[in-house]
Amino acid sequence: FPAQLTDLVRDHVREVADFPAPGVLFRDITPLLADGAAFGALVRGLAEKYRGQVDAVAGLESRGFILAAPLALELGVGMITVRKAGRLPGPVLGVDYALEYGTARMELRPETISEGQRVLIIDDVLATGGTGAAAIELVERSGGDVVALAMLLELAALGGRTKLDGYQVDSVLVY
Ligand code: PRP
Ligand code: MG
Repeated sequence: FPAQLTDLVRDHVREVADFPAPGVLFRDITPLLADGAAFGALVRGLAEKYRGQVDAVAGLESRGFILAAPLALELGVGMITVRKAGRLPGPVLGVDYALEYGTARMELRPETISEGQRVLIIDDVLATGGTGAAAIELVERSGGDVVALAMLLELAALGGRTKLDGYQVDSVLVY
């Protein structure tokens, strides 16, 4: 991504110490979303990179949805919702993955993806990579081709990229 897009994101992310737990530095994207000019520039900047290369944008619930919907519209393609467990009516595919404590599950309606469709996966944060890896598995088991994973923020110290080995991972801002 161009440096000006990275700067735009850096300038609008708020750092919150000790949230949601002591010792954690939380990166809050709500100031970025609340600024109409910045949010618009972000969506257009994301779209520029993938225009003509994707047939659908898959957003990861919850915060990935905020980026996926305007990006899909800007690109003139549909949006696919990869959802947390139990929210989608069937038939669904599901993937369980490990969290720091316990497990989580993401689900996808395979009928929303057609065979060979070029899919861009997008989320707000790449941390341990578990969510992104689950999304890749769901898209591929549904017949889609993962073009890239676009992440607004990447927390490099958590090593999430290693779980996404072999895939193009584009992060706007890496911490
Ligand atoms: C957060 C974040 C990413 C995910 C990254 O989602 O939005 O989706 O964690 O973590 P990982 O790389 O370790 O899998 P979370 O479910 O916490 O919250 P949300 O519903 O607000 O998106
Ligand atoms: Mg999330």
